[in-house]
Amino acid sequence: MDFKLTEEHEMIRQAARDFARNELLPGVIDRDNDQKFPTDQVKMMGELGFMGMMVDPKYGGGGMDAVSYVLAMEEISKIDASASVVMSVNNSLVCWGLEKFGTEEQKQKYLVPLAKGEKIGAFCLSEPEAGSDATSQRTTAIDKGDHYVLNGTKNWITNGSSASIYLVMAQTDAELGHRGINCLIVERGMDGFVVGKKEDKMGIRGSDTHSLMFQDVIVPKANRLGENGFGFKFAMKVLSGGRIGIAAQALGIASGALEFALKYSQERKAFGKEIYKHQAIAFKLADMATEVDAARLLVLRSAWLKDQGLPFEKESAQAKLFASTIAQTVTNEAVQIHGGYGYVKEFHVERLMRDAKITQIYEGTSEIQKIVISRALLTE
Ligand code: CAA
Repeated sequence: MDFKLTEEHEMIRQAARDFARNELLPGVIDRDNDQKFPTDQVKMMGELGFMGMMVDPKYGGGGMDAVSYVLAMEEISKIDASASVVMSVNNSLVCWGLEKFGTEEQKQKYLVPLAKGEKIGAFCLSEPEAGSDATSQRTTAIDKGDHYVLNGTKNWITNGSSASIYLVMAQTDAELGHRGINCLIVERGMDGFVVGKKEDKMGIRGSDTHSLMFQDVIVPKANRLGENGFGFKFAMKVLSGGRIGIAAQALGIASGALEFALKYSQERKAFGKEIYKHQAIAFKLADMATEVDAARLLVLRSAWLKDQGLPFEKESAQAKLFASTIAQTVTNEAVQIHGGYGYVKEFHVERLMRDAKITQIYEGTSEIQKIVISRALLTE
């Protein structure tokens, strides 16, 4: 077993770290305050190859492995989880889904601009009454021969207003249950497609989360992903990979908080010495570092399994469950170490603490991860 990263992995990690420090850090507090989408920064991420990292270069991607992807996700999430969720959805839900299951025509038309970062994608599964219970889709896609007519509402859609290509799950045949669900590629600007209200969120406030409305939207049949009725399985398969990205995001939020706390504890003095010299603080730092390392191992394992073409569904759920759990404790302790300074925006850790919470909710709550893990244990 080799725990050493390759030279290429180290270079990718360093490039992501430099980008996060130089381009994301300067405005991150203001963007969080103002709920401002990191438009310029996401454009730069596209130019640097962070938006389609794992896509084959023949479709405009970086041709990198999932290990490279999680290394970059961790570094970017240390500083700006709003930017990293844009990256995560684009890479592991939309690009991966299109590359794995799309037709050649769909790849040329949609994947290429997404992988190059010229366009942003969104993944639309959740509905007002179908979050965890994702088979209960109310959005309908009625088959009209050469096209579908799409009607319904989607909720909490990441990249809701910044995207221009949307993967939308909808029910075509209710009698077939989840086997009657399709995934359609919907373009911004199609008649009857309206971007609804923006959510005012606790964390990841720089990312744009919206409801979406579809009223008699005509979607060509050529825009269906996979065979008729494949939509739910498509969503499940894509989410298994997506959870590796969100696990890496949670890891990054935690390791970012640890880095801020380490730095602060060496600068701040109390009772005549730097606070890291007090055992009360040193023990916290030791616990935080151990939790971060354990989460990193789970995240890297799930990415490695994916790269080997081995099953990774249980392991990605475990990585997401654990990393999102320790992101709560580590960011909480980072605020505690900062004392009063931790409770104000300037020192970054209060933002990381707010950002951490969403990693226990999106791409499946912690309870959903436990369902996935326990089912796998019982069928292994
Ligand atoms: N791969 C392939 N097929 C899968 C699968 C997978 N990983 N998981 C399930 N399936 C298949 C099953 O085999 C079954 O098919 P058959 O009937 O043909 O055998 C079918 O899907 C239905 O599976 P279940 O009976 O297990 O379905 P369920 O209703 O019990 O639910 C669940 C399973 C795991 C709870 C699922 O509903 C789930 O994952 N829910 C959470 C949804 C979610 O993560 N939402 C996040 C929204 S996206 C987001 O957050 C993105 C963002 O903006 C950041």
